[in-house]
Amino acid sequence: MKIAIIGGGAVGLLFASFLQEENDVILYTRSEDQSERIRTNGLVRKNGEESVCIPINVQPISKWDTTGIELVILCVKEYMLNDLVKDLNFPANLPLLFVQNGMGHLSLLKKINTRSLFIGSVEHGALKVNNHTVSHTGIGVTKLAIFQTVEGDRWILDELILQSIKNFPVQFEQDYMVMLTKKLVVNAVINPLTAILGVTNGSLLTNNYYQMVFEQLFNEVCLALGIDRHTYYENLVRVCKNTAKNESSMLKDVKNDRRTEIDTILGYVLEEAQRKDIKVPLTLAFYHCIKGKEIKEEGM
Ligand code: PAF
Repeated sequence: MKIAIIGGGAVGLLFASFLQEENDVILYTRSEDQSERIRTNGLVRKNGEESVCIPINVQPISKWDTTGIELVILCVKEYMLNDLVKDLNFPANLPLLFVQNGMGHLSLLKKINTRSLFIGSVEHGALKVNNHTVSHTGIGVTKLAIFQTVEGDRWILDELILQSIKNFPVQFEQDYMVMLTKKLVVNAVINPLTAILGVTNGSLLTNNYYQMVFEQLFNEVCLALGIDRHTYYENLVRVCKNTAKNESSMLKDVKNDRRTEIDTILGYVLEEAQRKDIKVPLTLAFYHCIKGKEIKEEGM
């Protein structure tokens, strides 16, 4: 399948490196500099001591071209999607797959005039080492669900699932809302806590004190979202263990002075709580802590 992947961050590089094994991938990066580095060095994927170098077709996004493309995977942060969708031309018959954290992109999807929209939920641990290298720090699953589609485009999901690329399993989920809620709970608990405490995901379970806060925040999130504790707790713990050595994307954003995804994650939980008139003091406090970290203090 001919796939265009937009985004040269950890998830974009990870997806490009694996999907290139069975498909014809073109990776679009924001900068010409990153494209040039990948062209020169190849795309390198590390897993512990092992390292593979994958030759890949890469272009800066300024050269966007959909000729022959059968699927576009958008691997940029949720807050970049609006501009991207406005600036790029996506023909209405070209299927799009969105793999953002949180729930913020759902309102945008409702406005896109494309016949097939798919949603993905990524449970891998991935770290962008440099512009052409990604480290696969936790082997997880990519879950795919349909937001809207036509019968003729269903083969795209089937093909991604059947490709069975080693260490890159892809699974179909019936209900995109259940799938996104599971991932939201994971991100709502793991991401802010790891970013505030400055620890890898696994510490939230191995440090008894952190684990107490982990559970308290989890309980509040379930209350705000009106979901059953049991199913979601199992899933949260499973992802946390699978990505134990990983630094969450929010911790990496905070460390690198980048904007975080807190609005699409805890911001969404707060909106839900407000809608139901439920008090969620921990969620509000952690939301403010991360918003505070996004502000660069001058003269410090
Ligand atoms: O945002 C992240 O870092 C990831 O979604 C996850 C699964 C929590 C792993 O760190």
